[in-house]
Amino acid sequence: MPDLKRGASPRPPGRVFESDTPPILYVAKETEQMVEITDKEFKKLADYIRSHYGIFLKTEKQSLLNARLANVVEQHNFKSFSEYYDYVVSDASGLATSILIDKVTTNYTYFMREPDHFKYINEVALPNFERSLKDYDLRVWSAGCSTGEEPYTLAIILEEYFKQKKRWDKKILATDISTQVLNIAQKGVFEHRQIEMLPPMWKLNYFTKLDKNTYAVSDRLKKEVIFRRHNLVQNFSFHFRRKFHIIMCRNVMIYFDKKTRDMLVNSFYNITEPGGYLFIGHTESLDREATHYKYVAPAIYRKV
Ligand SMILES: C[S@@+](CC[C@H](N)C(=O)[O-])C[C@H]1O[C@@H](n2cnc3c(N)ncnc32)[C@H](O)[C@@H]1O
Repeated sequence: MPDLKRGASPRPPGRVFESDTPPILYVAKETEQMVEITDKEFKKLADYIRSHYGIFLKTEKQSLLNARLANVVEQHNFKSFSEYYDYVVSDASGLATSILIDKVTTNYTYFMREPDHFKYINEVALPNFERSLKDYDLRVWSAGCSTGEEPYTLAIILEEYFKQKKRWDKKILATDISTQVLNIAQKGVFEHRQIEMLPPMWKLNYFTKLDKNTYAVSDRLKKEVIFRRHNLVQNFSFHFRRKFHIIMCRNVMIYFDKKTRDMLVNSFYNITEPGGYLFIGHTESLDREATHYKYVAPAIYRKV
């Protein structure tokens, strides 16, 4: 495991959408009027987003939402946000909601994000499981995986750890609500700047150079990760055949209100194997009164 100290990460590359910066700057043409969202339309859309996706938009976000959705409204020639709302709720393909969620959240992620988590997995969690799991079957879930950097980092960590221990079967489930990010994740093609902070041996062993600037995740690594679309807050009931030893849900719950967060964490708890771990983002925290998980290290909790 390379020494990647916390905070020592280079400026993260990739699709950097800082939270309050519109990802696409909409510049209204001189002759054209930008469609304005009304208070009532904002409330209707915000209620829909909250009830279906757990994402809480304060009223202060009205103009931000307006700016972020302006190009979508323009592309479809909607005359109002009410028309846009009708389109979103009637779209059975899931594409419209996926685009909407992309506009109100951020997909910001990068390889080896919050490196002390991966250090903990390597030095504490995996040795624990190696001692305790008698069936050599390790199950990991990256919940809110965005464009794949998190599950692929996990896959490398597991590969490195278990490379001399062939009888271990390890599977990583990686889920997100957004089909766009999942398509990118599944392709597994990254620019050089996105992987340049990784140790040279990892780049050599787990990536194939496609051209001067582009690298593809190796097929061997891809086989370790299953990508699926999944809404974390739909019914809060997860229908997985078996429980997980490690769940990573980092930098996802920041968008949810407390009630949604507590219910989600409770659902995670129910599908964590005894002795298993939940990792959340370093800027997030769990209400220790509302969960049975025990705090074990910064942003790391355990079902004991
Ligand atoms: C900032 S990214 C986090 C990526 C990665 N976990 C990390 O920490 O680098 C947040 C991701 O959460 C996803 N997300 C937001 N709401 C969700 C929901 N209700 N269900 C599943 N995924 C959701 C977004 O689509 C986005 O890709």
